[in-house]
Amino acid sequence: MLRKNHFKNKKIIVGITGGIAAYKVPQLVRLLKKEGAEVQVVMTDAAKSFVTPQTLSVLSENPVLSDFFKNTQGEWNNHVHLALWADAIIIAPAGANTLAKMAHGLCDNLLMSVILSARCPIWVAPAMDLDMWTHASTQTNIQTLIDRGIHIIEPEDGELASGLTGKGRMAEPEQIFSALENQLLPPPNFFTGKRILLTAGGTQEAIDPVRFIGNHSSGKMGFAIADALIQSGATVDLVFGSVSIAIPENCNTYGVTSANEMHQQCLALFPKCDILIMAAAVADFAPVEVASQKIKKTEDSITITLKKNPDILSELSENKRNNQITVGFALETENEKNNALAKLQKKNLDCIVLNSQSNPDAGFGVDTNAVTVLCKDGAQWQIPTASKSLVAQQLLQSLSEWLTKTH
Ligand code: PMT
Repeated sequence: MLRKNHFKNKKIIVGITGGIAAYKVPQLVRLLKKEGAEVQVVMTDAAKSFVTPQTLSVLSENPVLSDFFKNTQGEWNNHVHLALWADAIIIAPAGANTLAKMAHGLCDNLLMSVILSARCPIWVAPAMDLDMWTHASTQTNIQTLIDRGIHIIEPEDGELASGLTGKGRMAEPEQIFSALENQLLPPPNFFTGKRILLTAGGTQEAIDPVRFIGNHSSGKMGFAIADALIQSGATVDLVFGSVSIAIPENCNTYGVTSANEMHQQCLALFPKCDILIMAAAVADFAPVEVASQKIKKTEDSITITLKKNPDILSELSENKRNNQITVGFALETENEKNNALAKLQKKNLDCIVLNSQSNPDAGFGVDTNAVTVLCKDGAQWQIPTASKSLVAQQLLQSLSEWLTKTH
């Protein structure tokens, strides 16, 4: 299954404690950054004897944190905020002392206070000499941590810094990365392995060479869906109009301007797709004539005659194969549910996602959305206000459950 850049939007604290294996941690930071994660390194003073904060700061693209205070003026590194910010914490290497402190709730440095404040999943990659690893106290501490839901990435057998050979070497960065990857990625769902045609952004209908009729779509909702689909292991053909944010990576992208261009591009891609999701705001009308030169303001008023654009979603849905699924969006300002239900039927859709422009936290431009999903079999549910990224993930999760039941 293709899953690239799949740590995008994941915030990970890499905690480094004192031990020779700390020299391997820059490679772990590189792997996480390469896959799109935001990384915050928190290291103990003892760790600085084995790897420099400068190296880690450059690789993580963030200042490295060690102390409770940023400076002598009393500005502090808020461990509670740090812990809540993180989607995951990995402590590598974790020596016997750190494991004992974690098991007993000791809190004598910034890293330990972050760990105690954390609500996210925590991984530890122990590293120590073989007798320390097998010692009853270490094993009891490990069991305590497992019982509390902490993930242990077992150390490996091999040559140890002491010159002895046995179990105690920290797992290689690639293995630590895989352990995180297996747990942090969304489990496979209905979209995994499917090809999705997705539209996003707004279309622009030219009036003359410098002016157009457009709308306020930023592309945020559609692009958040693209990211969530990519994380689910889907192949995404993304057709986008005018947008105000960066275009997602790891999908096939097709930039268009007008509704007619979007229509042509979608017609070409639709036969290959399993599912169509249309989050784009497509102009319903376009000027009949486009002036070849900039229109001068010689008159007090002008009239622009508009003609209907093709309804892309209706046309594709009309011609869909039995096993093709079509999902539309509806942006409404009044009589919202009835209007959305009418579109669901008229456009022959499987589902429609209703968002309301009268809600200031939803619809065009803003970073958040709140939606109601309406399905052709009468099923319906709501996704409450949250970031467009979270709404996209919840939308796909809930659609996946409905599609699995009904297809
Ligand atoms: O991009 P953002 O700033 O994040 O905003 C997100 C959004 C508000 C644009 C998005 O969530 C949304 O609601 N998109 C659809 C807006 C819209 O055009 O709704 P509509 O009710 O006019 O159209 C219904 C459906 O038909 C839509 O799926 C639309 O893509 C499609 N359509 C509409 C007209 C047309 N000529 N062809 C179409 O395919």
